[in-house]
Amino acid sequence: MSNREAMLEKLSALEVEHAKALAGGGEKYVERHHKRGKLLARERIELLLDPDTPFLELSPLAGWGSDFTVGASLVTGIGVVEGVECLITANDPTVKGGASNPWTLKKALRSDEIARANRLPVISLVESGGADLPTQKEIFIPGGAMFRNLTRLSAEGIPTIALVFGNSTAGGAYIPGMSDYVVMVDGGAKVFLAGPPLVKMATGEDADDESLGGASMHARKSGLADYFAVDEQDAIRLGRQIVSRLNWRKQGPAPKPSYDEPVLDSEDLLDIVPGDLKIPFDPRDVIARVVDGSVFDEFKPLYGSSLATGWASVHGYPVGILANARGVLFSEESQKASQFIQLANRSDTPLIFLHNTTGYMVGQEYEQGGIIKHGAQMINAVSNSKVPHISVLMGASYGAGHYGMCGRAFDPRFLFAWPSAKSAVMGPQQLAGVLSIVARAAAEAKGQPYDEHGDGQMRAYVEGQIEAESLPMFLSGRLYDDGVIDPRDTRTILGICLSAIHSAPVEGTSTFGVFRM
Ligand code: COA
Repeated sequence: MSNREAMLEKLSALEVEHAKALAGGGEKYVERHHKRGKLLARERIELLLDPDTPFLELSPLAGWGSDFTVGASLVTGIGVVEGVECLITANDPTVKGGASNPWTLKKALRSDEIARANRLPVISLVESGGADLPTQKEIFIPGGAMFRNLTRLSAEGIPTIALVFGNSTAGGAYIPGMSDYVVMVDGGAKVFLAGPPLVKMATGEDADDESLGGASMHARKSGLADYFAVDEQDAIRLGRQIVSRLNWRKQGPAPKPSYDEPVLDSEDLLDIVPGDLKIPFDPRDVIARVVDGSVFDEFKPLYGSSLATGWASVHGYPVGILANARGVLFSEESQKASQFIQLANRSDTPLIFLHNTTGYMVGQEYEQGGIIKHGAQMINAVSNSKVPHISVLMGASYGAGHYGMCGRAFDPRFLFAWPSAKSAVMGPQQLAGVLSIVARAAAEAKGQPYDEHGDGQMRAYVEGQIEAESLPMFLSGRLYDDGVIDPRDTRTILGICLSAIHSAPVEGTSTFGVFRM
């Protein structure tokens, strides 16, 4: 099978999974929602955005591989409203009444993090049954962070706007409660700490939905609604009006006013990554199809050649790029990366990490040559670097190589995976082999014979398990990335992310941890 065929096969499998997220709770619930005269989450978002502008949906596969619906009953992403890049979240009321399950919470917290790091105004399109009651133990206590985050964003001067279309009860009432601006839809919004049955139980009082938490009551009596919307479209209009009056200014430098498109065709990006990741590929072929004018000024090209480092720009934004060129990271590559990251911090230049690494080199010669020390230098540089980072997993991203290349735990502003990516502590065969060696040694130590037949079965089982757990849909389902993307969209997505990133100041540092020499 050609590289292209292998990639296209993975892309069509990905499309099937994305379609599940788009389908939300399925036909029955979508129909019921429309019959009630309500818009779907994505329809609300589409009307909110400036016409003909893109929406970068984040983590659409959240919850994949779990018992919950793919997408985790929440849509999140970055879009432009009245010319302002905003972080938009929308509950999907067709999935379990929009209730928040553990994956919904993870997705919501991730979107808060993106809003905070990049200074993006937040617009919450609210219609949720609150906590998913059967899994409340997973979400009740950590879920408080959703409300804490909203007010912390506000404290940092990042505007928060809630458009309430439907249910927003109990803890959910604090989404509008903690937002700077609140719009409520007449006949739809229901914002109360306790609904009629609970009030009856608690105090014996008889009350109805409207008097406890309707839009009219909140706009006229409690003052929780700043704006009263006659219907959903009106709420969206009011949301746009609020953004237009924020007087919002981006704090990062503007991109170059003009730039060239890549000379080489992005379509070729389907041909580059081999179906078998053991076969190396040259990331310069990727870079040339992603950066402005296909121009990549390589830094230290003759030294540590297993890692390409260099300067370029994407949609007019200057970037430094670190790209694995041949799987393994040696001491030279680690030192080169550390130097390059420091240089990017001196010139306030964002960094892009293109992953295809099996990790740091192992073996006597390399241990004696200080591979841990040099890898630690690179991890120190990545961890303490203050310029924005974006990671793209193109192929392998294994072991500490994932860390050194700014893996998820190293807080890249965004992390995306291509369908060809794989990430784990090590490759499935290696991991199964290590387990086998350890088990054999344990049997020997006890003086027991080793079960060779069982060993073969164990290896095959473990290999299968690790392979499945290394795949991008599985990792995306667990929110270990912000989405699995078509390689051909890489340039556009990097452009949207870089533009969003420049809503916040872009500043490097000269303060790193002590570099072990
Ligand atoms: N946890 C788990 N499942 C929930 C849920 C919740 N909080 N809220 C709704 N669901 C489920 C329903 O059981 C139903 O499942 P089913 O279709 O498989 O039977 C599905 O979601 C749709 O709910 P339904 O009541 O038919 O939808 P609706 O649009 O008419 O009403 C709500 C939606 C949210 C107003 C209503 O379901 C409700 O009041 N839920 C409880 C709200 C609550 O008290 N939450 C606790 C807050 S901390």
